Amino acid sequence: MKTKTLFYCTECGNETPKWQGKCPACGAWNTIVERPAEKAARKSPAASRGSALGVAVNRPRTMAEVETTDELRFPTGMGELDRVLGGGAVRGSLVLVGGAPGIGKSTLMLQICDQLCRSATVLYVSGEESERQIKLRAERLRVRGEGLHLLSETNLENVVDAVHTVQPGVLVVDSIQTLYHGDVTAAPGSISQVKECTMALMQLAKGEGITVFVIGHVNKEGSIAGPKVLEHMVDCVLYFEGERHMAYRILRAAKNRFGATNEIGVFEMEDGGLAEVPNPSESLLAGRPEDAPGTCVTCVMEGVRPVLAEIQALVVPSSFGNPRRVSNGVEYNRAMLLLAVLEKRGGLLLGNCDAYLNVIGGLSLDEPAADLAAMLALASSFRDKPVPSDLAAIGEVGLTGELRAVSNLGQRLSEVRRLGFTKCLIPKRIQGKLAAPEGLELIRVANIREALAALL
Ligand SMILES: Nc1ncnc2c1ncn2[C@@H]1O[C@H](COP(=O)(O)OP(=O)(O)O)[C@@H](O)[C@H]1O
Ligand SMILES: [Mg+2]
Repeated sequence: MKTKTLFYCTECGNETPKWQGKCPACGAWNTIVERPAEKAARKSPAASRGSALGVAVNRPRTMAEVETTDELRFPTGMGELDRVLGGGAVRGSLVLVGGAPGIGKSTLMLQICDQLCRSATVLYVSGEESERQIKLRAERLRVRGEGLHLLSETNLENVVDAVHTVQPGVLVVDSIQTLYHGDVTAAPGSISQVKECTMALMQLAKGEGITVFVIGHVNKEGSIAGPKVLEHMVDCVLYFEGERHMAYRILRAAKNRFGATNEIGVFEMEDGGLAEVPNPSESLLAGRPEDAPGTCVTCVMEGVRPVLAEIQALVVPSSFGNPRRVSNGVEYNRAMLLLAVLEKRGGLLLGNCDAYLNVIGGLSLDEPAADLAAMLALASSFRDKPVPSDLAAIGEVGLTGELRAVSNLGQRLSEVRRLGFTKCLIPKRIQGKLAAPEGLELIRVANIREALAALL
């Protein structure tokens, strides 16, 4: 007889035969919990799944036999969301929208319902709020949505029944962690419930051509199964990021079966709900201090879009033996590496200094092109001399302090110029020819020492 898996990790879904303090797969602590015994007499989910997907389970077909229709896309009414989805929502797809509680997932979904219900029947199922609460929220967001169907329900079977009655073109489920499937004895939000419910919604999407948006909470403690365990099942995974107390929210595609995953959408949380930010660079640079030491602007590519970001640094003498290093928006190890290069190759004595690095607007920069600006911000704070406010810096820094070429330089420079900068520090050696935008002076430097000598 096959041994039964009794424990699993709520963080990554890894199954283990015995309890462990640390998950061997993802390394999280205290996330292994016991899986409640499931009903023995459950029909094989694979059998029902295959038929519901409308696929002949037992007969492979040749490629030529498979009919295709062009994927049908429709706009959601939020340009930034459409961009992340790859040019609109695809009919019959299941989109998972993940994010921390309170980030604005319900708000975003309710707002797009306003536009969607003009052209399609939309069913909004909430397991978290009553219909009255949803209506109150809709009033606050000025979502009229008179034809929007609301349902406050947590039982999956009832949801499926409602879908068969209403026959919606778009279904929104808020949130997957509140739904439960009667056949599974585990509590709502547990890994087996979340998986089983998602599977059922997937069948609805594929079988009936309904576009399904599913909200999933991400929580750090891992006490409920998060969207991570569902990523492989769904068509598209979007993560809503941003600091809860900061206005900017960034929607990022982690997976997309129908488009690129490197697009982001930028929103701003306002009183009346989420507003699109079509021009993020401008908003991110608003309120930038002039002639203050410890700040430098760079240009990073977010998908195919260049975005300007301000990096700030504060370097102060340490009052303890062990200097503090804090990095926000730049990955910690990358920041430590830049500090080390700055000390060794730039000749700055940072060993006895606390260093703080921060990217304004809650943006996180995962691109090496931001290296140069981060180092200049640190050096500028250390020397207490400002970087000229009309200067931006783009370039990756290597361990020997050399500056390396970055991709899409032309596009980045155009954005830098567009926002009124007149000088830009770039690596000396670049591939191909580069035409500087008019009015932008390029300062080419070979290494970090030259960059410091040129500016500070
Ligand atoms: N009645 C309200 N008035 C003003 N702001 C609100 C109100 N309700 C919610 N918000 C704001 O909207 C944000 C997003 O809420 P919500 O969309 O419910 O988040 P999520 O669904 O991701 O948990 C909250 O963090 C809060 O700041
Ligand atoms: Mg919510």
